[in-house]
Amino acid sequence: MNTSGDASTAEASARAHANIALVKYWGKRDVALNLPSRGSLSVTMGALTTRTTVRFDANVAADSLVVDGIPREGAATERAARVLDLVRERAGLVSRAVVTSSNSFPYGAGLASSASGMAALAVAASAAAGLSLTPEELSVIARRGSGSASRSLHGGFVEWRAGSRADGLDSHGVPSRPADWWDLRVVVALVDAGEKEVSSTRGMQHTEATSPYHQPFLDGVDADIEAARRALDARDLTALGRVAEASCLRMHAAMIAADPGLLYWRGATVELIRRVRRMRERDGLPTWFTIDAGPHVKVLTLPAAVERVVAELRATPGVVDVIESRVGGPARVE
Ligand code: PMV
Repeated sequence: MNTSGDASTAEASARAHANIALVKYWGKRDVALNLPSRGSLSVTMGALTTRTTVRFDANVAADSLVVDGIPREGAATERAARVLDLVRERAGLVSRAVVTSSNSFPYGAGLASSASGMAALAVAASAAAGLSLTPEELSVIARRGSGSASRSLHGGFVEWRAGSRADGLDSHGVPSRPADWWDLRVVVALVDAGEKEVSSTRGMQHTEATSPYHQPFLDGVDADIEAARRALDARDLTALGRVAEASCLRMHAAMIAADPGLLYWRGATVELIRRVRRMRERDGLPTWFTIDAGPHVKVLTLPAAVERVVAELRATPGVVDVIESRVGGPARVE
């Protein structure tokens, strides 16, 4: 913690990475507490980082949030306030907070900035408030800001256990394998699309309420997690990639079958899917895709193939940038 001499303020900074789900979370058993209907499993992406500074300040009247130099209001501030309130409650603090955050990747474009953002916020705010919490406790707090943030407290490969308690205290990230377990690479193809149209929360509720395929999606998750665990243990990308593609496509199928159908993809998304499969089937490269609630495509691959994968993705019309990532470490105070 980095407290100033003035007793009315306390400041700390933290860094966290985004994660991409290999077995997807799409459905809540409790909306207010952000409790998922099933578990999920992700890989932490070291190249996608959020750095956040929190200053609790007795002299300011309201919480404020600046992300990448721009003051934010609305949904982003509400999420941040939920996390800050939990920290204040725990620390017996009343001061409002000044939060400044910067991302190494485009904010709010469906690249999981809420996961790294809420994880970094939970860690920085807790440190600034003088709390010393376990990663599980921090994960429970981050989860209230964004479900997927519960997985960004840990590095490497992480499971988010659905838990069964009504208060959600057993619904948090759990390390599956550490970052140095396997030198998997994730190559992200950014598709030109601007800000996301439908938030994950709204999209999930709409799918749950209207899609005949939502329950079948949920019914497959436990087996997918089990298969992903086995693939991770064996460092078997073919097995892991199969599960990841299937989980992703079933989640999107459930959304597309909602009423009205929810389609996050652009033309370039479909083109990227085809290219990833062509690289695998025609060129024999280890390439598997996954896609969250947005148009971007993340490709799972291995070090020897990264250069060719990057070139192929860059050459796809509609792709505006390509980011390469190694498996990242845990969220931390700095
Ligand atoms: O964490 P949220 O509420 O933004 O939801 C994330 C949903 C997906 O990214 C589509 C899936 C996942 O497991 O991360």
